[in-house]
Amino acid sequence: MPMSTAEVAVIGGTGFYTFLDDAEEHPVETPYGAPSAPVSVGTVAGRRVAFLPRHGPHHEHPPHAIPYRANLWALRSLGVRQVIAPCAVGGLSREVAPGDVVVPDQLVDRTWRRASTYVESGAVHLPFADPYCPRVSRALVAAAPDVKAGGAMVVIEGPRFSTRAESQQHTAAGGTLINMTGAPEAALARELRMCYAALALVTDMDAGVEQGSGVGQEEVFSLFRANLDRLKDLLTTAVAGLPDPDGCTCSTWADGIDVTYDIPG
Ligand code: ADE
Repeated sequence: MPMSTAEVAVIGGTGFYTFLDDAEEHPVETPYGAPSAPVSVGTVAGRRVAFLPRHGPHHEHPPHAIPYRANLWALRSLGVRQVIAPCAVGGLSREVAPGDVVVPDQLVDRTWRRASTYVESGAVHLPFADPYCPRVSRALVAAAPDVKAGGAMVVIEGPRFSTRAESQQHTAAGGTLINMTGAPEAALARELRMCYAALALVTDMDAGVEQGSGVGQEEVFSLFRANLDRLKDLLTTAVAGLPDPDGCTCSTWADGIDVTYDIPG
């Protein structure tokens, strides 16, 4: 396999397949099993971009059973250094509303049963105070004037939505957004020295914020579908504006640490 089949990756919903020109499929096996799907690689804004549908081509992987370690490892093994992660999120604060696109700058990991690290031995404690790549985040925020910057994304285990009381706790603890897939993706990207930033589409207000009967799956899916073209345009602009990954802090967090796992690519 060539060293650098792709430089940038988008991990997103199946609707993003059409985002790539001339896509070719790359089946990749990893020490952590198969990724959610073969990785498609094509061209966007003159860059080689990989696309991986997080939930699989037919949405067969629920959030708690996504092969996160295989996904990030597969992308790194194709040469990817910068990952953009579009995702659907609920709003935990009135600062956001359905239809908003937000680039969060913080993460609260409330997941509890996922394989969330490549570290299986040794003292490997990477800094994670700022979980997202500042440079890729800036390119996303600059991609359209209505993209909002900042906020903490709470990641729950799912697959169910939160109770009203759980949701109110997340808001009281400072959460702005809530979703089910943002962890461990960000931490795994950090372990593989990749830049990673999330592009969150607010599809609903979570149960603690709204007064109705709570969030429903169809509400989330249909708002996401309705915004696919907008997200694709935004991603294309962001990819065109991505800085060179060389020199980014994301590749240096593990410097001086005796990393005990494989970093492919
Ligand atoms: N994804 C989209 N909306 C969500 C919500 N309210 N809670 C968790 N994940 C979500």
